[in-house]
Amino acid sequence: MNPSSRGPERLEGVTAIILAAGVGSRMQSQVPKVLHHLLGRPMAGWVVAAASEAFAATSVVVLSPATAGLAELLGGSASVAEQPKPLGTADAVRCALAALPASAKELLIACGDTPLITAALMREVVVARRETNAPIALAAFDADDPTGYGRVIESSDGSAECVVEERDASEEQRAIGTVNAGLYAVDRAWLVDALGSITPSKASGELYLTELIAAAHAAGTPAPIVYGPEIELEGVNDRHQFANVAAALRERINEGHLDRGVALIDPTTAWIDVQVQIAADAVIEPGVTLLGGTSIGARTRVGSGSRIEATSIGEDCIVRSSAIEGSSIASHVDVGPFAHIRPGCTIAANCHVGNFAELKATSLAAGAKVGHHSYLGDTEVGERANIGAGTITANYNGVQKHKTIIGADAFTGVGTLIVAPAGIGIGAKTGAGTVVLADIPDGCTAVGVPARIIREA
Ligand code: UD1
Ligand code: MG
Repeated sequence: MNPSSRGPERLEGVTAIILAAGVGSRMQSQVPKVLHHLLGRPMAGWVVAAASEAFAATSVVVLSPATAGLAELLGGSASVAEQPKPLGTADAVRCALAALPASAKELLIACGDTPLITAALMREVVVARRETNAPIALAAFDADDPTGYGRVIESSDGSAECVVEERDASEEQRAIGTVNAGLYAVDRAWLVDALGSITPSKASGELYLTELIAAAHAAGTPAPIVYGPEIELEGVNDRHQFANVAAALRERINEGHLDRGVALIDPTTAWIDVQVQIAADAVIEPGVTLLGGTSIGARTRVGSGSRIEATSIGEDCIVRSSAIEGSSIASHVDVGPFAHIRPGCTIAANCHVGNFAELKATSLAAGAKVGHHSYLGDTEVGERANIGAGTITANYNGVQKHKTIIGADAFTGVGTLIVAPAGIGIGAKTGAGTVVLADIPDGCTAVGVPARIIREA
């Protein structure tokens, strides 16, 4: 299941505001919390994706100067409002108001640090508010460990009386396990008024959005509570919660691959970004990482320890414990173990890339073989050419990079060194240890240092 492509029709008439201006100091990181990468998206990107699935209108994400980098990572999937200083969640919502379209009468407010949230739950909170006609509704859950969350104080009729933040809570209130998820549906006109009445917290000086719950209760229109599962509502404030949430997203993504017929040998150790596509009957061994826009064809086996990023791999390939980035690999190719295919490589059908081979911006035509311990950079290799163990293209002379062309059916001996732009002709051969400084013509055999032709075509 791709978490961003399921569920019923998108609800009309609701605009989501996603709060992502806080730095998240409890993460102990130089990187603002909401930008931390989680299985192919920044943390807040998961919340934006859920809102895009839930609602027809474009969401508004609140950013601060510290988190402004998120805008580019979201790539236009949401519009942006600025909160100049992180003065609290109520201030963040106030900053979003100016960026809302006039047509947005109903709002859904979510926190950018709750990446497990689903579109279904977002819609449920909206519906709960509509049905009760209350100005605000909130989502809550019973936390295994409520530490750090606002506690929800429930009235006898099941609505919310108020939310008390941990730092303001009494011992007795801290013992409450029902916590605020940070997910609210709210009427815009009421919100604009109610925000004006929030005063800074005595404990932190921040303006708490959670004060809205007490305001609704005081006005005799208390907020209905929608209970959700912790697995959809866990917030990320520190590295422990980040690790929990990452594991939950991994499980969600991997369940989808299993449903579609991918053989994930150990779904608990395969880390697969949300954008990755894998065909049925592909086999993913334990400890594999697949990143970005990678695609894996049917019956291809990706071996333990492989890390593959932004690469397409065709059908019936075998990749053993290798690193591959930004490349394209056709069908019936075998790679590794311990090969490194760097960006810009194109590998045609039936090729072999052996142990400890490194390729960079190199193309292999169909049936070419690059054996053990070779380095080919900026090289074109013709069909069926056989690159002997330890063959190196010296593509960089300290100033410029040059290309090397190796013809179809060429054969390089063990330890051949080809100094670019020198190349090897079609069907040409080199002996072991040859140093090629000038082109070897088609069909010739060369040996020695520097290479001399010992057999003409
Ligand atoms: C908040 C809630 C708490 C709830 C918890 C759920 C408040 C006061 N508390 O606490 O009741 O249990 O979420 O996870 O709302 N942000 C801004 N601007 C700010 C401050 C925060 O945009 O000035 C953003 C953050 O980037 C984050 C979200 O709002 O995405 C929540 O802020 P955070 O500081 O994590 O609040 P919590 O302490 O988790
Ligand atoms: Mg939080």
